[in-house]
Amino acid sequence: MSGSLNITSATADPALLDLPWHLPLDAWPNENIAALPKGISRHLVRFAHLSGRVVAIKETTSEMAKREYEMLRTLQGLEIPCVEPLAVITNRSDVDGEPLNSVLVTRHLKFSLPYRALYSQTLRPDTATRLVDALAALLVRVHMVGLFWGDVSLSNTLFRRDAGAFAAYLVDAETGQLYTGGLSNGQRENDLEIARVNIAGELMDLEAGGRVADELDPINVSNGIVAAYRLLWKELTGSESFSSNERWRITERVERLNDLGFDIEELTIKTDETGTTVRIQPKVVDAGHHQRRLLRLTGLDAEENQARRLLNDLDSYRASYGGEDADEEMLAHEWLVRVFEPVVRAIPRDLKGKLEPAEVFHQLLDHRWFMAQNQGHDVPLAEAVTSYVQDVLRHRRDEATVIDPPTGSLTMPIPVVSGTSGEPDPAADPTSDDEDWRLKV
Ligand SMILES: Nc1ncnc2c1ncn2[C@@H]1O[C@H](COP(=O)(O)OP(=O)(O)OP(=O)(O)O)[C@@H](O)[C@H]1O
Ligand SMILES: [Mg+2]
Repeated sequence: MSGSLNITSATADPALLDLPWHLPLDAWPNENIAALPKGISRHLVRFAHLSGRVVAIKETTSEMAKREYEMLRTLQGLEIPCVEPLAVITNRSDVDGEPLNSVLVTRHLKFSLPYRALYSQTLRPDTATRLVDALAALLVRVHMVGLFWGDVSLSNTLFRRDAGAFAAYLVDAETGQLYTGGLSNGQRENDLEIARVNIAGELMDLEAGGRVADELDPINVSNGIVAAYRLLWKELTGSESFSSNERWRITERVERLNDLGFDIEELTIKTDETGTTVRIQPKVVDAGHHQRRLLRLTGLDAEENQARRLLNDLDSYRASYGGEDADEEMLAHEWLVRVFEPVVRAIPRDLKGKLEPAEVFHQLLDHRWFMAQNQGHDVPLAEAVTSYVQDVLRHRRDEATVIDPPTGSLTMPIPVVSGTSGEPDPAADPTSDDEDWRLKV
């Protein structure tokens, strides 16, 4: 019956009530709908405007909607990158009192793209490999918290650009099963096999539609997820033995895990009876090592590789400007207002939807590095920004959905620094950069 609409939501947004719930989702008027790229799915999913943002609405049964809502909430609590659940709406009916499907409402993940919308013409093998690597990393994280995903595929994943790589987010949690005691090897292998078969199918599908490059072999790429997954799983969870005079290996292991973006909670170190062999077993807690450091220092929320890239730049700024006992947080703030924010502000308003600020900054550093290579000398930051905006950014397709206000909270003009590090390799040593940091006057 109309009027008995039932909304379950942790963060109730009253505007939810204004959406036309008495209409089947496929009959919603255009004014409510946000036209954005979407993956293929069995259920009807549409994007709608809600309080100045965009939400994804999936029509399904009330049991499934509730289950997926709870699952996504749990996964959020476990810090798994996934879409944010907003509400479950049941008891819908049309104006004649005929029942309508229940819906799950999730927040649209900004700047995310379904894999089919990530490239414009044909999918190249290296892009496909980066997608599969990102999915492998997500699957490892999902397994580490004890979730059997059950329907691992490119379609059930959203991708965001992450400094030359991709970051994967779980979008479809309908088939997930959480095991508090962790997963068995058999369960993990099962999920991995589902992933491999689904990816092969998805790529063959694209191939049949002429949407992959000739040199891309779907089987080869889909097998890649198995290799990438195993490598990462071993690095994160495997124990290691070495002789007791090779203790540097302990530090090396910790650094390797940090480089991969993970923090460890504890490291079990055991020696055998003779004391000649040491065995270490890390317990990895969280992904997002660099993300957290960047957030703590600057308040910027970026993807892991972007964060690493920005921190590299920040660290080289610190090396150039900070004295012996310079305060890390103070310098980070200085870097933010003198380097990062002026770059973000320099992006013309009509281009702000192209890429998110951290990705722009990363690309700008690359661009500047290539300019310097071509010209044989350092290029001031301001000049690189102008060239990047005109020659690169302007020619990109739009990726944004809802455009945030600029990152900068400061309104005063701040002098722009003319130099920042610029190696395109995020792992490059920032201290090897001998640029200076003069202020532009
Ligand atoms: N919060 C969101 N942000 C961005 N895109 C979303 C969101 N929720 C859903 N989508 C898009 O809608 C598509 C379909 O969603 P979903 O996979 O949940 O539907 P489904 O019908 O359960 O899929 P399946 O056919 O795998 O069962 C996704 O691939 C994604 O592109
Ligand atoms: Mg799906």
